[in-house]
Amino acid sequence: MDRYVVFGNPIGHSKSPMIHQLFAEQTGQRLDYSTLLAPLDDFTGCATAFFREGRGANVTVPFKEDAYRLANSLTARAQRAGAVNTLSKLEDGSLLGDNTDGAGLVRDLTVNAGFSLTGKRILLLGAGGAVRGALEPLLAEKPASVIIANRTVDKAELLAELFCDLGPVSASGFDWLREPVDVIINATSASLTGDVPPIAPSLIEPGQTLCYDMMYGREPTAFCRWATEHGAALAMDGLGMLAEQAAEAFWLWRGVRPDTAPVLAELRRQLAL
Ligand code: ATR
Repeated sequence: MDRYVVFGNPIGHSKSPMIHQLFAEQTGQRLDYSTLLAPLDDFTGCATAFFREGRGANVTVPFKEDAYRLANSLTARAQRAGAVNTLSKLEDGSLLGDNTDGAGLVRDLTVNAGFSLTGKRILLLGAGGAVRGALEPLLAEKPASVIIANRTVDKAELLAELFCDLGPVSASGFDWLREPVDVIINATSASLTGDVPPIAPSLIEPGQTLCYDMMYGREPTAFCRWATEHGAALAMDGLGMLAEQAAEAFWLWRGVRPDTAPVLAELRRQLAL
């Protein structure tokens, strides 16, 4: 049976095996998908050994940059992201690196939430790997503007420079912004500690602005609660992005696009238990 894994460290709580198992059942694909705890100091050795037999892998924290370096070829979006979350063994045995995170985010917004990004003003909070991965797919939707706001402004400026050939992208500090935007995407790790980036509530146009937190949890995240309190039209967490990035990887490996809706419903159900 074709073997797939998700590499990470730690990796015990990964939802990917369950997601891909459900995708496989739904689409009638026969495959085996499990977790693989790679040693922090030898991702390359571990991945190389796996790929003697294995067909594909997802890669999560902290190995996405290692996977980027390991890949023999890269998709344009992985090249731009500087990170790989999906590896696929090609016919000739070489490894193709892709990054499906940003596409997963865009699909959750445009398909699941039915919210077109074209012509919209987008505010991205954070300037780490998550933002870098999202920029190419977001700019491909032809928004009116993308502002990257970060605690460390230099990092936002660097990213804006790196992506400015793809569309209208600029950098900012959190407290420089006042005018409402159409979409606010939180890609900082502030939610991990229950914090909300210090941005002005006036950035939310009540009943209009969509707020999205890449994090998710059993309860609404701090950012989603903040968004709802200030009248956001919709406050979404990142569970849909998780399911969609997986579907995108499944499609790359198997050439079949699974229906994410029942899988997302199951993920939500399990999260509530
Ligand atoms: P990831 O790969 O998930 O993007 P990362 O590269 O470590 O993770 O980036 C984390 C991001 O969250 C950074 O933009 C960080 O801001 P700095 O660049 O200034 O460090 C941001 N961040 C983390 N904790 C935060 C907090 N409490 N408030 C605001 N921003 C925070």
